[in-house]
Amino acid sequence: MGIRIIGTGRYTPERLLTNADLEKMVDTSDEWIVSRTGIKERHIARPDETTSDMAAKAAEAALEIAGINADTLDLIIVSTVTPDMPFPNTATIVQKKIGAAPCVCFDIEAACSGLLYGLNTAYGMMASPLKYKRALVIGAEKLSSIVDWTDRSTCVLFGDAAAAVILENDGDPETPDFYADGVVSANGNYGDILQMPAGGSAMPASHESVDNHLHFIKMGGPKTFQLAVHSMVEACRTLIERATIPLEKIRWVIPHQANWRIISAVAARLDMPERVYQNVERYGNTSSASIGICLDELNRSGQLEKGDYVLTVSFGAGLTWSALLIRW
Ligand code: UT7
Repeated sequence: MGIRIIGTGRYTPERLLTNADLEKMVDTSDEWIVSRTGIKERHIARPDETTSDMAAKAAEAALEIAGINADTLDLIIVSTVTPDMPFPNTATIVQKKIGAAPCVCFDIEAACSGLLYGLNTAYGMMASPLKYKRALVIGAEKLSSIVDWTDRSTCVLFGDAAAAVILENDGDPETPDFYADGVVSANGNYGDILQMPAGGSAMPASHESVDNHLHFIKMGGPKTFQLAVHSMVEACRTLIERATIPLEKIRWVIPHQANWRIISAVAARLDMPERVYQNVERYGNTSSASIGICLDELNRSGQLEKGDYVLTVSFGAGLTWSALLIRW
């Protein structure tokens, strides 16, 4: 069909929060954080810097590398659990900031699986009779705004960032699509192991909800860890079993960057440790931005060539998960 990735971009806020900084905030240590997660530092947005600000900067970087203007986009999808506000959606705010023309704009909330959910959705819309020609898919998170900075079990894990991918349908039936195969799924029975309980219609903001720290991330760490490894490995195995290409053609495996131990466990079970890309030590868990950051780092450092295959895989609150085999 001719739907290709023509640009990637990323943005991370200037301020770095190191493990040494966290040692001064909660009862933790660099040794504990590194040995349990692999994380050494994460970027934290300024108080006045919003999710849409970061998303727009990542989008502009992707537009530049793609060599196209924002006013040629037909579709903007933003994945985030930290929208600027409940409505309007963050995609419309980004649309305005980057100077895009009127087009379809909506947000996706699939937590850390959001970028892959967004790429699946955009591909479906572009391949449909609706024939959208150019799509911008962004994963952007200001997780520092929903992290409880007094809770050592979660505050050491997360960082802020945004990443963008631009898709274009060149209309040439000879051009292979970027989308080689995909798995997208969720299981709502695990919704309570990772959530932000307050701030929605179930528990609107109140003095009590604020006093009880209910507007922050609550996570059952060990259970999330176990489900993460299981869902990511199963999703990858499904794609590997269905793949019609030799497995050597998969140049990179990009798992969601939540924790080095989760990444290693997935890599070991797939038996592809040398092809697994990881950068969690520099960013922490940036939720839906994480896979896009990896893709952009590989793209800009010349480590992706036309025809390479990249196996991306993610899991997140919901529990959601997705794997996408990308043809570069
Ligand atoms: O994108 C999806 C989001 N989430 C994830 O991917 C997270 C998945 N889970 C994990 O990555 C791991 O479960 C954690 C890194 C969160 C925790 O590692 P763990 O090995 O599962 O530790 P634990 O929760 O079993 O806690 C072990 C101990 C506890 O102390 P006690 O009860 O054994 O005395 C915790 O209180 O470590 C303690 N602890 C800490 N100690 C120092 C928890 N957080 C910290 C900390 N510093 N920051």
